[in-house]
Amino acid sequence: MSPKYPLVKAGLLYNVAIWVVLMSTIRGSEGKLVKRHPTISYRAVNCRKHSAFITEFGAKGDGKTLNTKSFKSAINHLSKFAPDGGAQLIIPPGRWLTGSFSLISHFTLYLHKDAVLLASQDEKDWPILPPLPSYGKGRDAPAGRYQALITGTNLTDVVITGTNGTIDGQGEAWWTKFRSNKLTETRPHMIELMYSNGVQISDITLLNAPFWNVHPVYCRDVIISGLTILAPTHSPNTDGIDPDSCSNVRIENNYIVSGDDCIAIKSGWDEYGNRFNMPTQHVIIRYLTCISPTSATIALGSEMSGGIRNVRAEHITAIDTESGIRIKSSPGRGAYVKDIFVRKMTMKTMKYVFWMTGYYGAHPDPYFNPRALPTIKNINYMDMVAENVSMPGYMEGIKGDVFKGICMSNVTIGLASKPMEMMWNCTNVEGVVNRVSPRPCGLLREDKKVVECPFPEDRLPIEEVEFKNCVAPLAV
Ligand SMILES: *[C@@H]1O[C@H](CO)[C@@H](O)[C@H](O)[C@H]1NC(C)=O
Ligand SMILES: *[C@@H]1O[C@H](CO)[C@@H](O)[C@H](O)[C@H]1NC(C)=O
Ligand SMILES: *[C@@H]1O[C@H](CO)[C@@H](O)[C@H](O)[C@H]1NC(C)=O
Ligand SMILES: *[C@@H]1O[C@H](CO)[C@@H](O)[C@H](O)[C@H]1NC(C)=O
Ligand SMILES: *[C@@H]1O[C@H](CO)[C@@H](O)[C@H](O)[C@H]1NC(C)=O
Repeated sequence: MSPKYPLVKAGLLYNVAIWVVLMSTIRGSEGKLVKRHPTISYRAVNCRKHSAFITEFGAKGDGKTLNTKSFKSAINHLSKFAPDGGAQLIIPPGRWLTGSFSLISHFTLYLHKDAVLLASQDEKDWPILPPLPSYGKGRDAPAGRYQALITGTNLTDVVITGTNGTIDGQGEAWWTKFRSNKLTETRPHMIELMYSNGVQISDITLLNAPFWNVHPVYCRDVIISGLTILAPTHSPNTDGIDPDSCSNVRIENNYIVSGDDCIAIKSGWDEYGNRFNMPTQHVIIRYLTCISPTSATIALGSEMSGGIRNVRAEHITAIDTESGIRIKSSPGRGAYVKDIFVRKMTMKTMKYVFWMTGYYGAHPDPYFNPRALPTIKNINYMDMVAENVSMPGYMEGIKGDVFKGICMSNVTIGLASKPMEMMWNCTNVEGVVNRVSPRPCGLLREDKKVVECPFPEDRLPIEEVEFKNCVAPLAV
């Protein structure tokens, strides 16, 4: 399909054209010239030279017309600008029904404030992919997995952003199929970018994902910022943000209400993850607000078989959430979770503040090696306050594989009116604590010499990346 109108360039010609239109309307009402451009500015790592509207490719924002072909032809058309300053595809106000589509390099998908992308509920609109190489199997069903609503592979410099426009996954139909065991493939993610470098996902709202919301996998240099992610608190596996075998990741200013972990850091599953061997590393998470009554604020694992290291989290708020930081692993996973640093976390109404699970189970198939034991070490927490907590710490390491180098300092936990009888349950863990109340289990040894637990003083390279002010046209 070819566009109805020639592509609009956000260059001189385009501005002149709009200017002429504006001048005539403004002259009419006020009799003199007012300098006003019908554009909106937004923040992105890279701005684009060329622009087009989805409506130029035949799309209809009526909530009923299936627009997958328009998205595909628009993006296909814009791909020719990749070597010439890149392109942005603007989604104006409207309800744009679509199936899965793929992005390209040097590209921005921009959603206006009242733009809603509606995910099709017809399985035919979702191509099926093989399982990820680091997972070996799909999560819902061993066969394939539906391609994410918005996806991309092998990309460089890709941005999904907007003025808080919305992507609605309409996940209810998928959750129902999952609950009644009717799926033969794994449910689709909302956004999944694979093998890509320079990824920005920012300033949009994601509603009702069929499965995980944001899944960068095998990516580098990823910024995820200013997202509002909402799903019913009992919807299955609606994880917020899951960096998976990725390096250099910055997750900031996000507000997440979901039925599964708000953030889950992962790196592949058992023998498949060991073989693929790509860790998630150099991650900063800050200014996160999480509400997840059945899951964790930040989970590490359970799929961690490529390793997880150098993760920093600060300025984290959790309300009515099952746990604060949760490490999940199992014999069979191998690899490691190490060099984890958390500070300035505020929690209210929690079941657990600290939770480590050494026997999570959940294997892709029976061929995992039960002697592949994960190394869990150098896990640091400081300056944390919690209220209305049922159990401050449930710390379960693995027999013969002690979770080591746990450090907690300046942690004040207020208890629920009826807390669990056993406030700290520790097995196969060791570490040191100072100024932690209520007083932890004996395996976490009181040590007055620990003034505070470590938190790295250096900044990660991804923290130095700055946004530019970019401009999007408001109308064709
Ligand atoms: C991505 O790149 C790899 C390696 O160059 C290639 O084998 C694969 O086919 C590419 N995949 C896609 C979808 O472009
Ligand atoms: C974005 O939209 C969501 C849903 O309507 C709303 O809850 C949130 O406050 C908005 N965020 C911003 C920054 O406007
Ligand atoms: C404390 O937590 C319980 C649930 O465990 C909740 O019902 C109650 O409202 C909370 N109290 C306060 C003061 O937030
Ligand atoms: C302890 O942690 C709280 C909460 O983050 C913080 O306000 C306070 O300044 C910390 N105290 C010290 C001595 O660092
Ligand atoms: C303490 O943790 C161990 C190991 O997970 C578990 O078997 C045991 O039931 C727990 N005890 C209590 C009282 O919760």
